[in-house]
Amino acid sequence: MGRLANKIAIVTGGASGMGEMMVKRFVEEGATVIAADINEANLEKIKGEHITAVKLDVSSDESWKQAIDTVIEKFGRIDILINNAGISSEKTADQITAKDWELMHKINGFGPFLGIKHVAPYMKEAKQGAIVNISSYTALVGMGMNAYTSSKGSVRATSRAAAAELGGFNVRVNAIFPGTIETPMTQALTDAKEQMAMLVRATPMQRLGKPEEVANAALFLASDEASYITGAELVIDGGYSAR
Ligand SMILES: NC(=O)c1ccc[n+]([C@@H]2O[C@H](COP(=O)([O-])OP(=O)(O)OC[C@H]3O[C@@H](n4cnc5c(N)ncnc54)[C@H](O)[C@@H]3O)[C@@H](O)[C@H]2O)c1
Repeated sequence: MGRLANKIAIVTGGASGMGEMMVKRFVEEGATVIAADINEANLEKIKGEHITAVKLDVSSDESWKQAIDTVIEKFGRIDILINNAGISSEKTADQITAKDWELMHKINGFGPFLGIKHVAPYMKEAKQGAIVNISSYTALVGMGMNAYTSSKGSVRATSRAAAAELGGFNVRVNAIFPGTIETPMTQALTDAKEQMAMLVRATPMQRLGKPEEVANAALFLASDEASYITGAELVIDGGYSAR
């Protein structure tokens, strides 16, 4: 029996990077997975026997409603929600425009809130569910006063508030704080040799993380093995924020 046998899981941003790895790991452990993403070309590539691809713009209330209606119609319930979709930007505080800030928060901050808003009622009714929100180590260490950091701080606060609110319904909400992980999002950074070397030097484990190292943690938090864990904050950064 897989660790997620018979579970119905939604992974946002499931068509690339860590989300794609979560989709694959969850299927290996017996789940039926809905990969929800705005990138239709990548969704086409990932869909398969136990993977349903659903187009979703996490920043849109209407898009969430349509996606969740589709999932409920097809599967009847949702056991797991991973709020993973996100965008990043290297712009510094003096470069950021009001529009940049708004867009970043709409996708990274408002997106997970909308996910919880649309999925939690079904989980509450079923008296069970697991939600995992992907924040970032930048929300913990004061890494640049930029919109990304701030949007990931919002994910942290939303997770704790949702954990407190939903715990009584046996719905668990936890947050993961990845360090720099090798995915398409960080491609430009990993290509910049000097910056990479600095980052690696500052990381106690002396390397960047791999998508499967985050996917395995999400798998644990989403599974019944974590049945009394809610409101937790799991940092996966090779020790970067511990220094
Ligand atoms: N890679 C890292 O170093 C790192 C570190 C900390 C946190 N994170 C966070 O982890 C998550 C996954 O990042 P990744 O590195 O796998 O990036 P990625 O770019 O490989 O994947 C992100 C996915 O989100 C999707 N997406 C973007 N906007 C969307 C929207 N509006 N609606 C639906 N889907 C949308 C993209 O199409 C893409 O498939 C993000 O939230 C990111 O901020 C990444």
